[in-house]
Amino acid sequence: MPGIVLVGAQWGDEGKGKVTDLLAEHAHAVVRFQGGNNAGHTIVRDGRTWKLHLIPSGILQRDTLCLIGNGVVVDPKVLTDELDELRSRGVDTECLRISANAHLIMPYHLLLDHAGEAKLGKLQIGTTRRGIGPCYADKAARLGIRVQDLLDEKILKKKIIAALEPKRLSLRPFAKDPRLDLQTMTEEYLTYGHRLERYIADTIRLVHEQLEQGNNVVFEGAQGALLDIDHGTYPFVTSSNPVAGAACVGAGVGPKQIDEIVGVIKAYGTRVGAGPFPTELDGPLADEIRERGGEYGTTTGRPRRVGWLDLVALRYAARINSLTGLAVMKLDVLSGLERIRVCTRYRGAEGAEFEDFPYHQTVLHHVSGEYVELPGWAEDITECREESELPPAARDYLQFVADFVNVPIALIGVGPRRDQVVWTPAGARMGGVATSAGAR
Ligand code: IMP
Repeated sequence: MPGIVLVGAQWGDEGKGKVTDLLAEHAHAVVRFQGGNNAGHTIVRDGRTWKLHLIPSGILQRDTLCLIGNGVVVDPKVLTDELDELRSRGVDTECLRISANAHLIMPYHLLLDHAGEAKLGKLQIGTTRRGIGPCYADKAARLGIRVQDLLDEKILKKKIIAALEPKRLSLRPFAKDPRLDLQTMTEEYLTYGHRLERYIADTIRLVHEQLEQGNNVVFEGAQGALLDIDHGTYPFVTSSNPVAGAACVGAGVGPKQIDEIVGVIKAYGTRVGAGPFPTELDGPLADEIRERGGEYGTTTGRPRRVGWLDLVALRYAARINSLTGLAVMKLDVLSGLERIRVCTRYRGAEGAEFEDFPYHQTVLHHVSGEYVELPGWAEDITECREESELPPAARDYLQFVADFVNVPIALIGVGPRRDQVVWTPAGARMGGVATSAGAR
């Protein structure tokens, strides 16, 4: 600390919400820096489950400043609903601030996301259909509408007209959709503006104030490295950069302000949506892991594809993020398996071997994983709180992963509750409470 970035190092859904919630305990601010309500962060606290899509996971921590950074795309309907839900359950939301420069998801972005996927047919990406891609496309095309525009009716209307103009053809099938009526849309968004005005702020100044005072700031990533628009399995990716470097751009800080970068992974692999997944499993073992791990999307409810831990992809993710620590979640899900496989190499269609993550899409689509088999453990590990309490086979599994990717393990998840974790000394450096000595 003070600047700690937390990113997904697989295909999203690694358990980032829980890790952020834990780190937020020692943080003064938590900042979301990319993505939107395609994310779904689940936190289990005091027997209550919280599902957050836009609001930073630090919101459950009293007095932690929660910032939605400029790099996030905001659906104001989802945000106001999420605020209402939190307030109705007794959560104080006064510490939330939203960047005036964050872009807004508009009704036409949702329609275009649906239409785009329908048009792709069998080639569809399997997006969350939350309008994320079309919103980032408008941002890049300089046709985006930003949070600050909610506060000026004239500008808002002018920008909506300008944004709709080049989309006339693609929106023609929705010509009669009342959501696209200019007046209705403007009024709806002005209403959101009134409701959100008190939260709109210069979030960059707020982050820097915290960092200058030597306070701890957690930069909370969404999705994961392999869904990154530059570094992931393009085109089966999201439309933002979930890698650590994007924390700087999406929150308005420089690289020197980042001290630690935690990559969150599951002890196995999952993916939702289409695209290559070299270690994917099917059949009864996949079903068993899916059920035990509750592998259904927080945002869409879709069953997740499951597979073995892919260390080729993880080493790649460690490199492109400069990971300084790993948080390995859901280790308990693997308890009871006699043997556990980890992928250490890919084999291509023509027998070629790949030690590194292939950059060519066609190659990646046709590789399969080559595995090392490690012994499993039968013990229930959900009550372990120190590394020394974990069965030797579980410790060996973690050590194998850490050695292979050359990143120390900082935190181990052994159950869904927030207390079901094991901190290592590397985790203590990041604000966790170390409970054992001698671990990597
Ligand atoms: P989009 O982000 O909705 O455009 O979806 C693009 C791809 O990213 C799809 O494969 C989605 O399933 C995936 N995706 C987006 N957000 C998440 C997430 O939070 N967890 C896992 N997958 C995600």
